[in-house]
Amino acid sequence: MPPEYVHLPQDEIPSAWYNVLADLPEPLPPPLHPGTGKPLTPDDLAPIFPRALIEQEMSGDRWVAIPSEVRELYKIWRPTPLVRAVRLEKALKTNCRIYFKNESLSPSGSHKLNTSLAQVYYNKKEGVARLATETGAGQWGSSLAFACKVFGLQCTVYMVKSSYHQKPYRRSLMHIWGGEVFPSPSDRTQSGRAILAEHPDTPGSLGIAISEAVEDAAMHADTKYTLGSVLNHVLLHQTVIGLETKRQLQLAGETADVLIGCVGGGSNFGGLCLPFIPDKLKRPELEIIAVEPSACPSLTKGVYAYDFGDTAKLTPLVKMYTLGHSFVPPGIHAGGLRYHGTAPIIAHLTKLGLIRAEAYPQNSVFEAALQFASTEGFVPAPETSHAIRSAIDRAKRNDGKCIVMCYSGHGHFDMSAYDAYLSGKLEDYEHPDAAIDEALRHLPVVR
Ligand SMILES: Cc1ncc(COP(=O)(O)O)c(C=O)c1O
Repeated sequence: MPPEYVHLPQDEIPSAWYNVLADLPEPLPPPLHPGTGKPLTPDDLAPIFPRALIEQEMSGDRWVAIPSEVRELYKIWRPTPLVRAVRLEKALKTNCRIYFKNESLSPSGSHKLNTSLAQVYYNKKEGVARLATETGAGQWGSSLAFACKVFGLQCTVYMVKSSYHQKPYRRSLMHIWGGEVFPSPSDRTQSGRAILAEHPDTPGSLGIAISEAVEDAAMHADTKYTLGSVLNHVLLHQTVIGLETKRQLQLAGETADVLIGCVGGGSNFGGLCLPFIPDKLKRPELEIIAVEPSACPSLTKGVYAYDFGDTAKLTPLVKMYTLGHSFVPPGIHAGGLRYHGTAPIIAHLTKLGLIRAEAYPQNSVFEAALQFASTEGFVPAPETSHAIRSAIDRAKRNDGKCIVMCYSGHGHFDMSAYDAYLSGKLEDYEHPDAAIDEALRHLPVVR
């Protein structure tokens, strides 16, 4: 009988992050300079990122050593347990084994701290005084605020307006750790003011908040920009999740048949799954499933094309599955999944057929969240609940498989979402094809 709970000792926290770029069957299409259309150079990124992170972004090395200071800080909550959801399995009457890698145990309550600590560490080393960022649900903003507190940097967060109002306690968390938080779009930036003038009632979006944070960093010499997902170096830092999981499965005498994660920009999903890509290349039957909201279905309904990462067209062009940079998703409660694009690495692997994507409407996602909470006890974040929905549906096939999902965060600050679900007030949105066609008309032309 495989164990219900697999712990690792702290000396088994990985000593290096895994870089999947070294093992891709085809190279990743490079990011392009939006002005020249030429592949981006390190100098193009220097105004907004520190050198060390630019090097990681472009590195082809298979392993990148984790600095000892960062590894020490990981000890606050890592290694995280791999837990077998036996009570959920029983309720489903499935003969599949369902495991979840519990990333909700970090101080900020999600996987995001795996990269915020690393990013702030490198910025600090290069003398940066302040970091500007965006946040959707507030998980990333709070993780960055904590990391900035640890390393003594100032932290400015542009929080998507709909989440700013839906999740006031995530704001409080950022304040506790000394961060300043503004609802986005705000009147602090040119990009924010332009959007407010045209759409004063916009709920905001990650694309808009990214524009504001990038502009803030570009306009201030002491400030750099940080992103909580999408970029290669962010997914790299998150691979501690999958590396620990591999070791834990080995200790449990298990081999994963199915890997599942929710996808906003792709960082928790990539963190779990990328270390398994070499296995997938040898064992094509390994299923790797990316789960997204049907209200923001980049992987399932978007096109694979070069697009801007933000709304105001300030970022480089990256090749990804996109719904168009002008797309503003409905204000669903999984704020961290309201992104028009995807990590280029995840998009590339999807295009190559190594990853499969699924989309679910939010009511069925919350139904799964309640089933999980009623059996396993933990109350998941709405984002995480997408992975749970998929894992439950997969387990219902009853084919004896070993299913492993990333439990990316807890939902303790998402009670208004649970209240809305329980009182029948949660709306489902299907993204209309006409809206995709309209947004895709604005894609940049790349020769
Ligand atoms: C708990 C949780 N899970 C998942 C996500 C989605 O982000 P990513 O796709 O980068 O993991 C977020 C983003 O805010 C989050 O807060």
